Amino acid sequence: MIPLLFFSLKGYAQTSTEKLPPVTDYAEKLDTLYHFLVGISVVSCILVIVAFAYFSIRYRRKSEKEQGSAKVSHNTLLEFIWSFIPLVIFAVAFVWGWILYYDFKRPPENSLEIHVYGQMWNWTFVYKNGKKTTNEFYVPSHKPVKLIMTSKDVLHSFFIPTFRIKQDVVPGIYTSLWFKANRKGKFQVFCTEFCGTGHANMLARMHVVSLKEWEDWLAHDPYKGLSLAEIGKKAFQGRCTVCHTTTKEKRIGPGLSGLMGAKREFTNGKSLMVDENYLRESILNPSEKIVVGFPNQMTPFAGTLSEEELSGLIEYIKTLK
Ligand code: CUA
Repeated sequence: MIPLLFFSLKGYAQTSTEKLPPVTDYAEKLDTLYHFLVGISVVSCILVIVAFAYFSIRYRRKSEKEQGSAKVSHNTLLEFIWSFIPLVIFAVAFVWGWILYYDFKRPPENSLEIHVYGQMWNWTFVYKNGKKTTNEFYVPSHKPVKLIMTSKDVLHSFFIPTFRIKQDVVPGIYTSLWFKANRKGKFQVFCTEFCGTGHANMLARMHVVSLKEWEDWLAHDPYKGLSLAEIGKKAFQGRCTVCHTTTKEKRIGPGLSGLMGAKREFTNGKSLMVDENYLRESILNPSEKIVVGFPNQMTPFAGTLSEEELSGLIEYIKTLK
């Protein structure tokens, strides 16, 4: 209790001396509710402990003879008070929490919408103009943003701690989150639902920028002027690095160096020499052929990569000697 109390008070002191404006109105309101709950808990804890200590001394049994002499049965007024006051506190906390939850669940009509796909173990962001990014996305400040999220495989959870918002990302359905950032900055996103070996590395970075900067970013083609192999290298970074190295070192999947032209043996007893078609199939639909010694764990990338990125990845893998 004491260390907990200490950290809560320390946290409180830090937020109250924070010079930056609160990152969202919602986060500020939620923190106020949280501080209220901590405050009430601290006060109740002190009251109970002090009363407990006082009564232990004041009404302690003084001798053997006094045993069984206490004849107090109950006190209606006292019992009413100690039930009614907590009821009022709980009701306040409930209504307060409910109002905030209502806010959390209702994105404004004019929200900017971004689609988010979770998959083992990265995040893909797709904008209305078709722009796709992995593990990194940009949003304008002072504009409500709604994330429409789904998963390609297992349960994930999208969590932006600074914004105090978190939502499960579930295969087969859409869930959503919304926020309106009051200031620019970089913010960390975590996957906060245990989703397998790469869970701890399933991270994303959110950049909040001005509307103008965001529009420029949205119109910019990140692959402009790059060779196919360079496009592949860009697409590879972040998306593939949790499971694959560019050397021979094994991670969750095989290392990719020297893969082109190498012989692969599969769990179905067949084998082949690696060519472009095998690489394409292994990226889009990896469970078709499972290499002996590796788990059938890679998520299909069909629909997540553009043709350009796919060709880029194949060309990039071919350069890994
Ligand atoms: Cu995705 Cu943990």
